[in-house]
Amino acid sequence: MNRPIIILLLLLCVISCGRESMYRDASAPVDKRVENLLKQMTTEEKILQLTQYHLGVNDNDNNISGQIGDIPSEVGSVIYTSDDNRVAYELQRRAVEETRLGIPVLFGYDVIHGFRTVFPIPLAQAASFNPSLSRRVAAVAAFEGSAGGIRWTFSPMVDIARDPRWGRIAEGYGEDPYLASRFSEATVLGYQGESLSDPRTMAACLKHYVGYGASEGGRDYVYTEISTQTLWDTYLPSFKAGVDAGCLTVMSAFNDISGTPATANRYTLTTVLKERWGLKGFVVSDWMAVKQLVNQGMAADDKDATLLALKAGLDMDMMDNLYVEQMPSLLEEGKVRMAELDEAVRRVLRVKFLLGLFEHPYPVEGATSSSMMLAENVAFAREAASETFVLLKNEDQLLPFGDQVKKVALVGPVAADTHEILGSWRARGKAGEAVSILTALEKDVEVRYARGCGFDGEDRSGFAEAVAAARNADLVICCIGEKAAWSGESASRADIVLPAVQIDLLAAMKAAGKPVVTLLSNGRPLDLRKIEPLSDAILEIWQPGSQTGPAVADVLTGRVNPSAKLPVSFPRSVGQIPIHYNRRNPARGGRMGRYQDLSSEPMYPFGYGLSYSRFEYSPVKVEGLVASVTVTNVSERDGEETVRWYLSDRAASITRPAKELKSFEKKRIPAGESVVFRFEMDPERDFSFPDADGNRLLEHGEFAVQASSCDPVIFVY
Ligand code: NOJ
Repeated sequence: MNRPIIILLLLLCVISCGRESMYRDASAPVDKRVENLLKQMTTEEKILQLTQYHLGVNDNDNNISGQIGDIPSEVGSVIYTSDDNRVAYELQRRAVEETRLGIPVLFGYDVIHGFRTVFPIPLAQAASFNPSLSRRVAAVAAFEGSAGGIRWTFSPMVDIARDPRWGRIAEGYGEDPYLASRFSEATVLGYQGESLSDPRTMAACLKHYVGYGASEGGRDYVYTEISTQTLWDTYLPSFKAGVDAGCLTVMSAFNDISGTPATANRYTLTTVLKERWGLKGFVVSDWMAVKQLVNQGMAADDKDATLLALKAGLDMDMMDNLYVEQMPSLLEEGKVRMAELDEAVRRVLRVKFLLGLFEHPYPVEGATSSSMMLAENVAFAREAASETFVLLKNEDQLLPFGDQVKKVALVGPVAADTHEILGSWRARGKAGEAVSILTALEKDVEVRYARGCGFDGEDRSGFAEAVAAARNADLVICCIGEKAAWSGESASRADIVLPAVQIDLLAAMKAAGKPVVTLLSNGRPLDLRKIEPLSDAILEIWQPGSQTGPAVADVLTGRVNPSAKLPVSFPRSVGQIPIHYNRRNPARGGRMGRYQDLSSEPMYPFGYGLSYSRFEYSPVKVEGLVASVTVTNVSERDGEETVRWYLSDRAASITRPAKELKSFEKKRIPAGESVVFRFEMDPERDFSFPDADGNRLLEHGEFAVQASSCDPVIFVY
């Protein structure tokens, strides 16, 4: 290019960058648009961009305050829980057309496992050991959610959870950092699509940052004691994986992390998340969490709380309005510098530009009615659900139904239910659009249905009818479990047994003398000590969503061969917690130090799950840094097997877990055939471990590699 042209271009650029409306130019670089807009904003406008209110019906009882009356048109974000798009449309119109700078509102919502088409809860999705399933689930959720006016979802929740008493275990991907990391990145990619500027995508939000799953005793919102090494080893990786996958936003958690609440934790929010990992977007608090710094005993008052949160790196204040109330005086007194405020605003604006909100502030025309529950997405919900069911027991190959099963007795509170099976956080999912087990199964076999009892209570008056149905049938399917509200936020339980009335129903079924298949629908691992001996087969179906019935029928009849594995250990009793598989080795082995009154092994360990096929593993071979195993399907039924590759570091300067998942792969293996699975080890990635500040240490020595539950093979690196 010759000089005059270069000068002309530079001039044009200077002129256009200086133009007040330059931020509206979609072809200009995002960071330039941000700066251009930022410099035109008043302090009040800036603070409002850092503020999130709520509009609509409060659909989460734990979100303790109601609706904020007059939402200012300059507000940064709104949690939108209304079914009626016209309200959002009007708020957006005011923001875009009637405010000085026309900055669009970012509408956020908890779209956790589907929007209108409800998919299995995240814990169930993890059981599929198929992250691409979650990617697709998230893409459908974004397609529907964006049509409902939502461009930002508070998902995925990637908290590692090892205590089934904690109700929020349902919302994440289980106990293992590696498994959760793979689901974290897949889900982020699903929501955010190829390009966020596509109006059918949603920005993802990794939550709850960080360590929320370590809540003491499984109670919600409480203290968490986490050493910094454990923070790096266990709780941070799933967030890092999501940020690396391009997640733009992060929600800070409610918990106090060893004396510094997550909301005011500069180390986690700024040093790690923004400075080391380079988060591009912003951090939002959890609901009223800034104010709760006072309850937690860190801030003296609201003003102090605001100061601590902003200084720590908390950009957007969800619901407690403290930034609006307290920031002006903090600025005036010089406690907060304008540059600090600007940095937070910059991050929020960047997300809005990247989402293309200035170009597409409203949902795509006509999308609401034409996007929900499309046939292909409903079909996928069915397929996805059946891929998450874990076969825990199958005595004498009771399942799938053989030809001799003509008549089944279908009993229990879950059998005809269309509400609880949607799980917690069902967004706009409707019970009326879900298909029950009863409705679907009647298409395959003759069904005699008797509810028998409710989820809880003492009413056993329906038992007689259920027993009569059982006596009259070839087989009993007893559908028991938890209500949706028994897990999720603020839904902790001191015990993890099902109510006695449901166990008694199961016992009555067993006593009727017919083979009993127990279907379990729940949002957490349960204590199955009473249930297991009363069941000939057990299928864990979790909370499968809109297509529960058809998916269950697919698996019971054998149209689908179950392939899922537990993403979390099922303890025998709460007394065993913590019982996650990746604990560190004790000082003394054998029987030393074990419980005197109960086995020290879980009822069902992480990775457990049967198939209708039978697979045999060859011994593992290790050649250099490649481990391999041959898996043969020795049955007459095609099936899928997931090989889990575990490593253990036998001596290290910081002790390591007894074994750690480092890779997994799911493959279809036709009947009678063998397939080789390989694990190519990468020392930096697989053998190194973090110190208390996240530096990776790679030490030479003996390692053991294990494929699923095969014997480990020792090698030296
Ligand atoms: C509180 C919950 O902890 C969080 O997960 C959720 O996203 C917000 N409320 C908004 O509903």
